[in-house]
Amino acid sequence: MINSAYTPPLDLVRRPRRNRQNAAIRALVRETRVHADDLIQPLFVKDGNGAPEAVGPMPGIERLSVRSLLKEVGQLADLGIRAIALFPSIEPSLKDARGKFAITEKNWFFSAIHLLKKEIPEVLIVADVALDPYTTHGHDGVLDSTTGDVANDETVHILTQYATLLAAAGTDVVAPSDMMDGRIGAIRDELDKEGYTHTSILAYAAKFASAYYGPFRHAVGSAKTKGAPSLDKSTYQLDPANLREALLEARLDEDQGADILMVKPAGLYLDVISAVKGSTTLPVAAYQVSGEYAQIHAAAQAGWLDLDRARDESLLAIKRAGADIILTYFAKDIAKSLKNG
Ligand code: PBG
Repeated sequence: MINSAYTPPLDLVRRPRRNRQNAAIRALVRETRVHADDLIQPLFVKDGNGAPEAVGPMPGIERLSVRSLLKEVGQLADLGIRAIALFPSIEPSLKDARGKFAITEKNWFFSAIHLLKKEIPEVLIVADVALDPYTTHGHDGVLDSTTGDVANDETVHILTQYATLLAAAGTDVVAPSDMMDGRIGAIRDELDKEGYTHTSILAYAAKFASAYYGPFRHAVGSAKTKGAPSLDKSTYQLDPANLREALLEARLDEDQGADILMVKPAGLYLDVISAVKGSTTLPVAAYQVSGEYAQIHAAAQAGWLDLDRARDESLLAIKRAGADIILTYFAKDIAKSLKNG
């Protein structure tokens, strides 16, 4: 008969559970940690002095007028978030097919950056370089009149001017997110020529044509109007199926002078983050995009996921894959929870 009261120990040399048996030892052997220093908080900015407006699909995220932006950035700095990425939400009446408002001196976004840099100089300002907030069609550049496709070289020409105006306003890091060919080199040349040799370029090097940008397009108002087909950017953004092409893009951006290479989205592209990290000595950033944020929140609201644990795990995975820097809408939340231990 089997004696069920006594189980002889298995003859095991390795018992990996010994390193997991309590919180103290788990902390000692933990390989990856997310710090506030790793994070960049994306923020949406609008003109005027109005109250912040909620962005429906992104709980906790608001479009901020300049005054509320200053307050928010002050709070972020107190929490240890020392870098922000700004996206303007432009009034529909100021948009046209060519996004002309972007490069006019009247563009209030430049004054907002200028004021922010003056008031809170220690916080690093990253600004997106693309025309989608300014165009009526929502594409990142101007359209070729015969093909209807985004015209590469003409768009690059406009973006170099926009990047220079952003630098002049006080932007520390310009972040081209348009995926036009040759834009990093053209922007670097123009910045240098105008005396902005100290302005950095964070290249959206491997940016995929993703469905996960939906909530962001809602936030900046670049989504198509109701009923119209969703915006297709697949003639310039990468095919989600392609890893090797992502590495080509990363190499080109590095060769043209990018200071930091970014992969976007993040959580669905951990293999790309890891491969880019292995192929460069530049710092690697990853953008946990609006749809990644929205889906965690949506599941948590339904009671199907624990919000904080799902959030922490999503960022840990991105860091573990090799990201040195993470743009995430959770940055402020994370900083708070790190502060509270
Ligand atoms: C636009 C831009 C997009 C995002 C950042 N810059 C959207 C797009 O390419 O349509 C997406 C960010 C997010 O979803 O959080 N150039």
